[in-house]
Amino acid sequence: MANPLGTRREAASAPDAAWLEAHWMPFTANRQFKAAPRLFTQAAGAYYTDVQGRKIFDGLSGLWCTGLGHARKEIVEAVARQIATLDYAPAFQFGHTLSFELANRIVERMPAGLDHVMFSGGSGSDAVDSSLKIARAYWRIRGQGAKTRLIGRAQGYHGVNFGGVSVGGIVGNRKLFGQGLETSHLADLQPPPGSFFRGEPSEGGAALADSLLALIRLYDASTIAAVIVEPFAGSAGVIVPPRGYLKRLREICTEHDILLIFDEVITGFGRCGAWTGAEAFGVTPDLLTFAKQSTNGTQPLSGVVVRKEIYEAFLAAGGPEYLIELPHGYTYSAHPVACAAGIATFDILAREHAPERVRELAPHFEKAVHGLRGARHVSDIRNYGLAAGFTLQALPGEPARRPFEVAMAMLKKGFYVRYGGATIQLAPPFISTPAELDRLVDALGETLNQTD
Ligand SMILES: Cc1ncc(COP(=O)(O)O)c(C=O)c1O
Repeated sequence: MANPLGTRREAASAPDAAWLEAHWMPFTANRQFKAAPRLFTQAAGAYYTDVQGRKIFDGLSGLWCTGLGHARKEIVEAVARQIATLDYAPAFQFGHTLSFELANRIVERMPAGLDHVMFSGGSGSDAVDSSLKIARAYWRIRGQGAKTRLIGRAQGYHGVNFGGVSVGGIVGNRKLFGQGLETSHLADLQPPPGSFFRGEPSEGGAALADSLLALIRLYDASTIAAVIVEPFAGSAGVIVPPRGYLKRLREICTEHDILLIFDEVITGFGRCGAWTGAEAFGVTPDLLTFAKQSTNGTQPLSGVVVRKEIYEAFLAAGGPEYLIELPHGYTYSAHPVACAAGIATFDILAREHAPERVRELAPHFEKAVHGLRGARHVSDIRNYGLAAGFTLQALPGEPARRPFEVAMAMLKKGFYVRYGGATIQLAPPFISTPAELDRLVDALGETLNQTD
């Protein structure tokens, strides 16, 4: 409908309920939001400005994607320049130089062995589904077409497309959508309430990973294409695998000819205090997905990095040279404007030593967040790099209510944080100062203690 208040900008400052109806918002409680909209109009550095003109600290780096802070001049200029120069180039059978430049930049930051980038449509969900399709197709071209089963992990999050939902392990994201792909799930890694592990739990990882052996006994490795896990589970509330877990998964996958995929949509490009979660945890997968931090949130850009053997297997099986080796891709794969943003982002990540900066801030952040042990309602706190999850004791029958109320109260105090399931999640920008991290955590402690 026409905006009854005139221009869109005016409407944003005093939104009319009917005007808000047309947009069915994603992963949002639409009824609640439209009754009390939370609208941002600007962002710079670590802060948003909302329609009331208030400054709000960005306690989740957007959605884990703007670690370098908002409105970085170099990225803004690179995007503007690129739109004016080459706003689009066909993604299939033709190209542009920026995707090659960016692929090289990405490969430089990968653990040894991961050296070819297949860009996806721009979302993490696209990257995940691309990785699952590559895994299945790889076995098929290798003459092992029965290897189709995909193994995820309970509490894992791999986006919202059918592949990602199938391997995903958050029940609320799965239950409405019926039959998915042929998948199984490893047990979740949620520590018992009261664990308060700092960083990586020190024990028990290998034994937990051995649960993959039970799935192999049940289905046989000859039917299993790949295992996909997040190095640490972000959306479930920062759940960090105990030491040895990822290493043991790697050993089992290698031993049984199963591909290992790390979904690094959150953990890639700085958040872990390393360029990748693979580097942080010292384990190299066969395929690695990336998205969020790749353009610092400014443009949709995502993809999968694969081992040389995988890329070369497709080329070798490709038939005559003029034929396509992998029938997969998106209209917006490696969009030139997104690539320009990606190259500018990589320049800043490298120049400002973003992973090192996260590593330096992480002990301060860890101490601060664990200082909330004992705050009202808190049953567990977990952290890794610049990410933390707080589990709150549930109100009877309503595990998600208290986190929602806490996040709304935080917003009133000038802090944006994520609430999901029974958790509050923090992932502040890499450019945060220690004082800003303290203010964020202090405000959370105060809010928890004021919440019923
Ligand atoms: C690990 C992981 N994979 C995939 C996704 C999906 O990314 P997108 O929302 O860009 O589709 C997310 C999003 O949070 C994620 O955390």
